[in-house]
Amino acid sequence: MIIPHAKGRRMPLSLAERASLIEPSATLAMGAEAKRLKVQGRQILDFALGEPDFNTPANIQEAAIRAMRDGQTHYTPPAGIPELRQAVAKLYTDHHGVATDPAQVVVSNGAKHAIHNALMAVCGPGDEVIIPSPYWVSYADLVKLTGAKPVVVQAPESAGFKMTPDQFLGVVTPRTRLLMINSPSNPTGVVYERSELAALAEAVLKTDVGVLSDEIYEQLTYRDAKPTCFASLDPALPARTITISGVSKTYAMTGWRIGWSVAPTAVSKFIGDLQSQETSNPCSISQWAALEAITGPQETVVEMKAQFARRREYVLERIERLPGVTCTPPGGAFYAFMNVSSHFGKTLGGKKIIDSTSFCMAALSEANVALVMGSAFGAEGYARMSFATNLETLEKGFDALERFVAS
Ligand SMILES: Cc1ncc(COP(=O)(O)O)c(C=O)c1O
Repeated sequence: MIIPHAKGRRMPLSLAERASLIEPSATLAMGAEAKRLKVQGRQILDFALGEPDFNTPANIQEAAIRAMRDGQTHYTPPAGIPELRQAVAKLYTDHHGVATDPAQVVVSNGAKHAIHNALMAVCGPGDEVIIPSPYWVSYADLVKLTGAKPVVVQAPESAGFKMTPDQFLGVVTPRTRLLMINSPSNPTGVVYERSELAALAEAVLKTDVGVLSDEIYEQLTYRDAKPTCFASLDPALPARTITISGVSKTYAMTGWRIGWSVAPTAVSKFIGDLQSQETSNPCSISQWAALEAITGPQETVVEMKAQFARRREYVLERIERLPGVTCTPPGGAFYAFMNVSSHFGKTLGGKKIIDSTSFCMAALSEANVALVMGSAFGAEGYARMSFATNLETLEKGFDALERFVAS
């Protein structure tokens, strides 16, 4: 029998071309490796994962239990329950001064999903997306999944890890669809000054480029650093900005998977439709919990923030004493992006250190300290430490790192 198209056939279930576009998230991979070693009985000091160590506050847990008991266990509208969309819209209208209609808000399965949806809404093959580096691990891969090309712009430590308006204008082409910004930043903790973002906004408004502003760490800033809602900088910005945020970091709710996008209505309409086909709604119970998080008492946020602030001081103090390691103090989030490049070319713990990956792998295998390599964030020479961990663990971690870099 002649089989049609026998020649040039592909193996059954061979992966689509798309599969070659993405890598597994490096932070999750480092966290998984640390967990694997822990299961083997090793005492790993884990600073790899970007999630608060606190439990979700009790009032939020109670709201979830109440929701379950009240039968809020069914499908919800794909873009989220009206109560939560309204509460998020009110947050932007009242707190950020950006008049927002609930129709502009889509609740998604975490901020990461909201970013994916937003990119799917406006980017496609042939498009370009500008990403200042260091950048959060998922940005480049999420852009590639849409068929668009990430255009990475180096924002070096000497420039405070901040992209300048000139750098932005220098890479804009007719194919540029979006600029992605993230302040406070993961991995550097850098918080742009309002005036710096205003200058970037002015540059953006000279072009046809849209902005995806990831503000997931907006409530976690320290000392003089103040967050800025990008869309609030100019009345012309809401029409070209997609703002991303959520409850994961501020309310210690990483596992609940609730984030949101705020965008012009047509974009939000598409995002809701996309979600209706892909995942239906985000978890109904989590949505009620998130509603309590943003509308209920905020004291626990103040407490958690105070603890992060104490840990930040401690971390900076210990880095100062760590030979050959420096760090631009983070203004927000809960990461210290340590410059470890002076150790390249050395042998530490019997392992040759040539780059951030070998540094982090050796720190894990020889000092039981889990960090994430800067290369995963587009910045060779660095190692990211999350200080969303208790002080006792931080102390042990720095003791171990001190022995490691002296070895
Ligand atoms: C900059 C940034 N954006 C988005 C996210 C994703 O947040 P979520 O857990 O709500 O998906 C993270 C989480 O690490 C992040 O660091």
